[in-house]
Amino acid sequence: MNDFARGLADLEAQSLLRRRRVVSGPQGPVLDVDGRPLVAFASNDYLGLASHPAIADAAIASIRRNGVGASASHLISGHHAEHEQLETELARFVALPKAVCFASGYMANTGIMPALVGAGDAVFSDTLNHACIIDGARLSRAEIQVYPHADVGALESRLRASRAANKLIVSDAVFSMDGDIAPVAALVDLAQRHQAWLLLDDAHGFGVLGAHGEGTLAHLGIASERVLYMATLGKAAGVSGAFVAGAAEAIDWLVQRARTYVFTTATPPMLSAAVSASLRLIHADDWRRERIRDHAALLRVRSAAWPWRLLPSATAIQPLIVGGNAATMRLADSLMASGFWAPGIRPPTVPDGTGRLRICVTAGHDSVHVEALAVALTRIAGEWSEGNAGNSAVDSPGHAAENASA
Ligand SMILES: Cc1ncc(COP(=O)(O)O)c(C=O)c1O
Repeated sequence: MNDFARGLADLEAQSLLRRRRVVSGPQGPVLDVDGRPLVAFASNDYLGLASHPAIADAAIASIRRNGVGASASHLISGHHAEHEQLETELARFVALPKAVCFASGYMANTGIMPALVGAGDAVFSDTLNHACIIDGARLSRAEIQVYPHADVGALESRLRASRAANKLIVSDAVFSMDGDIAPVAALVDLAQRHQAWLLLDDAHGFGVLGAHGEGTLAHLGIASERVLYMATLGKAAGVSGAFVAGAAEAIDWLVQRARTYVFTTATPPMLSAAVSASLRLIHADDWRRERIRDHAALLRVRSAAWPWRLLPSATAIQPLIVGGNAATMRLADSLMASGFWAPGIRPPTVPDGTGRLRICVTAGHDSVHVEALAVALTRIAGEWSEGNAGNSAVDSPGHAAENASA
């Protein structure tokens, strides 16, 4: 691309131009967006912890003790006691032998995968996996075999046919745009039978699933030495960063070989202190997870009145399938005009024809917020059917997209 103006005009013509909205003040159910209050169902702050005072206090106390910058990479002089302590706490939290933290989920996946596999190896990747998994697979230079979404049979035949020296199965544990849970037990079984590793990305399950937020493995009661469990800390944990946990030797190997760990300045120690405080809240506040379940159930009941389909999802991500790009954005705009922010998600983030509102219900919302959103959607549905707007609800399984965001 060297004609930027034309590229931007093309995006605009296809209803694909993305706009950044400026949020001021703390995260919460009601956001100041471009100077206007909106009830927001747009964030991954699933447990409502991003602006929790105990987490802010922990960060501030750490700044007072340690200053801000870590000053070097972990393998030089940047590995601080706060980092070390958090890694110990995270491993304990998810009941795995050892953990290592990365600056973000994107950096984790793009570092882990090339450290595990390379030329002559193979990556087996669900078609709906997140963009940073796709990029991590490409960076690894291993052969990439994409299998249809959650299709265990198709994955098995690819594994059986593969002559690769090392095999890595990789999957979102909770899919970021659909909210469904991967068939983890079957993936673990296949990893064991085919001497493969399974990298599970639990960006959207950690904190939300499991009796005390331990994530998708705990939710499903699964433990296996073949699993590398990765989760992010900027979503339910409300802070920033990511970690991967698993067998001690595997984690030690990543410390040596994951380039996005080795060749970058360590995160400010105060972020680790903040996540430590967040872990205590994640564990103690079961009511936050209950709220998410209650909100999801309420939406499901109300969705019976809408022409759009709410995908089945046991998580905080409640996708409402609209179909075309223009209709998706029109619905998002109508909601925004009514005071609600539920972002429209279009290709390439989701397959063609499956534009949707990615509604996130969080512990920060109360039932009044959710009920008000449902009323607004019911009203808009009525207006559209009177105006015969032709907003068909399309739900066609497509080839995944080069996921662009979450
Ligand atoms: C499944 C998944 N993995 C990884 C990431 C990236 O994590 P981070 O935002 O910490 O870079 C995201 C979203 O951002 C995601 O949805």
